[in-house]
Amino acid sequence: MAKTRDLQAIISHCKEYGFIFPSSEIYDGLSAVYDYGQYGAQLKKNIRDYWWWSMTQMHENIVGIDAAIFMHPTVWKASGHVDNFSDPMIDNKDSKKRYRVDHLIEAFTDQIKQQNTTAKNGMDADTMLVQMDSLLANDDFAGLKSLIDAAGIPCAISGTCNWTDVRQFNLMFRTEFGAVAAEEGEDNGVYLRPETAQGIFVNFLNVQKTGRMKVPFGIAQTGKAFRNEIVARQFIFRMREFEQMEMQFFVRPGTQKEWYESWKKERLDWHLSLGISAEDYRYHDHAKLAHYADAACDIEYDFPIGFKEVEGIHSRTDFDLQQHQKYSGKKLQYFDNDLDEATGKPFGNYTPYVIETSIGLDRAFLMVVSSAYELEDLSTDEKKDDRVVMHLPAFLAPTKLAILPLTKKDGLPELARELMQQCMPHFSCFYEEKDAIGKRYRRQDAIGTPFCVTIDHQTKEDGTVTIRHRDAMTQERVALSAIKDLVANACAFPCQKP
Ligand code: GAP
Repeated sequence: MAKTRDLQAIISHCKEYGFIFPSSEIYDGLSAVYDYGQYGAQLKKNIRDYWWWSMTQMHENIVGIDAAIFMHPTVWKASGHVDNFSDPMIDNKDSKKRYRVDHLIEAFTDQIKQQNTTAKNGMDADTMLVQMDSLLANDDFAGLKSLIDAAGIPCAISGTCNWTDVRQFNLMFRTEFGAVAAEEGEDNGVYLRPETAQGIFVNFLNVQKTGRMKVPFGIAQTGKAFRNEIVARQFIFRMREFEQMEMQFFVRPGTQKEWYESWKKERLDWHLSLGISAEDYRYHDHAKLAHYADAACDIEYDFPIGFKEVEGIHSRTDFDLQQHQKYSGKKLQYFDNDLDEATGKPFGNYTPYVIETSIGLDRAFLMVVSSAYELEDLSTDEKKDDRVVMHLPAFLAPTKLAILPLTKKDGLPELARELMQQCMPHFSCFYEEKDAIGKRYRRQDAIGTPFCVTIDHQTKEDGTVTIRHRDAMTQERVALSAIKDLVANACAFPCQKP
């Protein structure tokens, strides 16, 4: 299967077939905000459900919660987001366009790599990236500015190199909460959460106590997060409103390294269970660690725009729980009555360390669609046009089965409707009578439906139907009565743990 590098083709396909629309499109859209259409919402839900199932149902020691988007403003002071959740930015004085410094440099290095050339000062792309990582790690803003100037990186809009100094810019959205009069001098500002993780930390003790959870244990959550991204482009890869699927795994201090390695592997295995090839993934260890981490890496996927982060695995130490303990004045500790072999005594009270796995649902969606989309060249086959097909894993496909009576008469629709009634409670089906059968197949291929069943005249005679398999386009005759179980089995979640 030939993988496309054409992001534009994917964007157009998603729009044409009801997966993703620009937000408020009739008002010309809202930058970096998107709506999921009928097939997109279902595909996104299926990815979310698969993640939730893998994390909670398939782990005895992980439970899921659903915390509110609004949180007490002190949460963000404690977590460090008010002071540290910012990116180094630079403005072009001529176009007035603001760029995230790392994105500006990376886009430039991508470009010189493609053109097989070097920067103005003779530096090659890889050397520039190594230098950038080291300057970012040291918060050396003057050094970053010098790197941009020396390389002669131009603004994509104005084409000039007339840059401001590098400055920090906080990414959190702030809004007013309730009707408390601002004139009374009260600050009633709250933030839209920039990550779902803090809803888990502040509920750590609630869940541990009510669920009688024993360390090591995890709390999972999916939900919206908001970031005022400066350079928001590349479709749903970088949005201002997006969804995260996060899990915080609470461990005994000193064991975090082995749990970090174990989650790194387990999360990559999850990605591979989507049927995506191992060559399309790589780990990227962070040179600059976030303010809360003692180790961190990204799982990167080879998107049409190149290898980019789809998921982060972070060893967050006890930073968040300690901070919430300090700011709230409430104890967030765990009593571990397992015996420490070294002392022969219980481990006792401690603040657990945390391994976090954090995947963007929208990025996972883009990854799944990018790996599934194919414009197949069938021109060498007699009388066959090209076809656009989404090779989605059957368990993620928005529609599992299309039920297609060959004609609108002779009792075929009645038989098809009966099959529809039988299958609908078990998986999503689609019914269609209109148009030639070939055209109907093509439409299902384009939205990734793994199976099409055609009810024809022979069905009336011997109770069999034609089932067509999307990827190979092969067809076979099977008993009508076998369809429900056949499709249900083929669309079940893959069992990661035998
Ligand atoms: N709690 C840790 C955390 O939020 P992160 O690396 O900033 O870590 C985790 O974000 C994941 O969220 C990323 O790997 C990415 O998939 C997704 N993500 C982050 N910012 C995003 C954005 N602006 N648009 C879409 N997805 C985003």
